[in-house]
Amino acid sequence: MQIAFIGVGGIAQNYIGSLEKLNKPVAAVCDINAQTAARVADELNCSGYTDHREMLSRENLDVVFVAIPPAAHDTQTIDAVQAGAHVFVAKPVAMDLDLARRTQEAIAASGRINQVGYMARYSDITERTRELVQGRDLGMGMGRFLTRMGPSHPWWGKFSVSAGQLVEQSTHVFDWLRYFLGEVESVHALGHDGPDNSIADFEDSTAVNLRFASGAVGSVVSTCSARVKDGFMGELCGRDLYLRLAMDTHLSGYIDQQEIDYHGQERGYYRQIEGFLAAVEAQDQSLVRSSYADAVNSLAVTLAANRSLQSGQVETVD
Ligand SMILES: NC(=O)c1ccc[n+]([C@@H]2O[C@H](COP(=O)([O-])OP(=O)(O)OC[C@H]3O[C@@H](n4cnc5c(N)ncnc54)[C@H](O)[C@@H]3O)[C@@H](O)[C@H]2O)c1
Repeated sequence: MQIAFIGVGGIAQNYIGSLEKLNKPVAAVCDINAQTAARVADELNCSGYTDHREMLSRENLDVVFVAIPPAAHDTQTIDAVQAGAHVFVAKPVAMDLDLARRTQEAIAASGRINQVGYMARYSDITERTRELVQGRDLGMGMGRFLTRMGPSHPWWGKFSVSAGQLVEQSTHVFDWLRYFLGEVESVHALGHDGPDNSIADFEDSTAVNLRFASGAVGSVVSTCSARVKDGFMGELCGRDLYLRLAMDTHLSGYIDQQEIDYHGQERGYYRQIEGFLAAVEAQDQSLVRSSYADAVNSLAVTLAANRSLQSGQVETVD
């Protein structure tokens, strides 16, 4: 299997680590930063490129990972599937819904296997929760993404590159809630503009209320100014049901009279790559838990929340 990367920064290293565990070597890498491309190509003993089109035309690739910042998305994923490759795209899939939809159409036309890096869908606690809530009516889902953006990635704090914390980071939480509660119909968001704009040129704290198509309600709070334990967390409520999912693999709560206290091992980072390659080998998109088309819906929710931050109104999700 000939595997390549477009973008070999932080998260790509995580994906490459999983590929190494699976004994899947990388055949080629591309990064617009020539030094990064050369360094990683040297480390992996593979070809290095700075232009993804050149890489796609020269290499005969089966699989392409796209791991670039939101604003950098252009036609890389379209070009990859049109060159015949299956694609794994780091979240968020873009920062603009038109591009995401055009890409979704190109992927559908290509028939290639596609997955987006919403690793929380692949964690042990998510699997256990899906079993536990099956057939039950969930009335409410809550989540939070509390972190301190640091200097390692200056682009995180630039709205023009990241589209803000909701689109770039909290998207994991919105996607997780969608996985349990289904589609979101409308959102209402409030934000706080902190005085310290050295962290981000957008709201440092936000609260987003959600209305799901099922009638359930939800909320997601986020901050980029404070890192706390269990900063990435979700909670689900239903009749005689409360579950607390801490992303570090602890699931607790109760269902009916039964207490739930479960410690998983896998956070989903490794299993998402293992699952993707299994889907590619089997040529079976139904094995994928986070398809590109599904991820476009998570993008739509976070973009609607961004609109609501501006308008102050309830916004319908596109
Ligand atoms: N847990 C997760 O799922 C997770 C964690 C971190 C980042 N991410 C996502 O992964 C993506 C990348 O984030 P990162 O932390 O790796 O960023 P990064 O800045 O560490 O790396 C991005 C790399 O992409 C390169 N790049 C930019 N434009 C490019 C282009 N047009 N062609 C080729 N290379 C290009 C940059 O030079 C850089 O090396 C973002 O969308 C981010 O949200 C996901």
